[in-house]
Amino acid sequence: MKVNSELIFRRRSIRKYTQRQIIDEATILHFLNAGMCAPSARNKQPWQFIVVNDPAILDILSERHPYGKMLKEASLAILICGDKGIDDNESYLLQNCAAATQNILLAVHAEGLGAVWLGIHPREERMHMCRELFSLPECIMPVALISIGIPDEEKSPNNNYEQSKVHWNKW
Ligand SMILES: Cc1cc2nc3c(=O)[nH]c(=O)nc-3n(C[C@H](O)[C@H](O)[C@H](O)COP(=O)(O)O)c2cc1C
Repeated sequence: MKVNSELIFRRRSIRKYTQRQIIDEATILHFLNAGMCAPSARNKQPWQFIVVNDPAILDILSERHPYGKMLKEASLAILICGDKGIDDNESYLLQNCAAATQNILLAVHAEGLGAVWLGIHPREERMHMCRELFSLPECIMPVALISIGIPDEEKSPNNNYEQSKVHWNKW
């Protein structure tokens, strides 16, 4: 069990990539499968995923997301969206999409690739940018964008544990 949870501690936000390479479809489907394995409220699985592997669209995203410059070298991006047609509770949509996003980040790391979570919701201008670029229907809420590439940086494992944030049996 400890060996598997190493993956959680070793995942870091990777923002530097070597040159773009094609990521094969089986690997991409594996990432999506990981996303769809996430827990969701009432098991509604109210998510939709936009896979971006067109370099021209990755370039546009790199220019339009204020912290998305790394997308210029990214091989792939995945936009995680909440589907209000499946669940109209926005809070649950966000929580469900966040769980799916983290699952994808871990799956990407497990494959030896690098990824970073780029915030979309609740920034109106970023949500608008995604709505326009991908012609999203009204009921689709863009939540998070994951930039994925061949890592060109190494980071030490996370060690964020803080005793002061842990409360046993009472505050
Ligand atoms: C909701 C959310 C939004 C984020 N937005 C961005 C972003 O726009 N740009 C970016 O470079 N990183 C973004 N991050 C990644 C965080 O900066 C990163 O997870 C944090 O600094 C901790 O680093 P680590 O992932 O290496 O542990 C975001 C993370 C979350 C959870």
